[in-house]
Amino acid sequence: MARSKRNGSSRSRSSKGRGRNGATRSRTQKSDAISLLKSDHREVEGWFAQFEKTNSDSKKQELAQKICAALTAHATIEEEIFYPAFLEATGDEDIHHEAEIEHDGAKKLIAEIEGSGPDDDYFDARVTVLSEMIKHHVKEEEQRGGMFTKARSSDMDLEALGEQLQQRKAELMGEEPSAGASRGARARPRGSLARALAARGNGRGRQDASTRRS
Ligand SMILES: [Fe+2]
Ligand SMILES: [Fe+2]
Repeated sequence: MARSKRNGSSRSRSSKGRGRNGATRSRTQKSDAISLLKSDHREVEGWFAQFEKTNSDSKKQELAQKICAALTAHATIEEEIFYPAFLEATGDEDIHHEAEIEHDGAKKLIAEIEGSGPDDDYFDARVTVLSEMIKHHVKEEEQRGGMFTKARSSDMDLEALGEQLQQRKAELMGEEPSAGASRGARARPRGSLARALAARGNGRGRQDASTRRS
């Protein structure tokens, strides 16, 4: 999480300040879609590492809850906002579909973890396997030639998508009321989020037109 804050010389990686609303702002990529998604990845990795080290059941329970809530929100914003925009911009069905199927596997396990606890013999194994699945999935997203690098070299508006991701995530985590309510979604209590998503099933192919860039 420790990220250096050296940007004193206003040297941002993208030199063009083309804000969608005409506003010119410093584009350091800190809040763009990919940076946000990567920082979610790092946060969950930290919790998985803590889970591995602790012997305390209550700590395990707390970490598992945090992991499940964060991963569920993360998967949701990717599926609702980032993945459709990626598919539209790149047409890369292989990467897109594989990522969605990997999410399905993770969601199943998340639902099982949320439905059990440290007193369950299989609880630790479920969290460990989830960690491995996520490690693999994150690698696929972040590796060279993977979804994120392809997105970076496409014409996706990563700044605008970053704002959408942030807003939707806040709704899902119940952190703040919907500002734009553009997606008509309601904040849900954390525990029910994964179950709601699991119940949604494999509704593949859905794409929300409001998230597409033209
Ligand atoms: Fe991700
Ligand atoms: Fe993902």
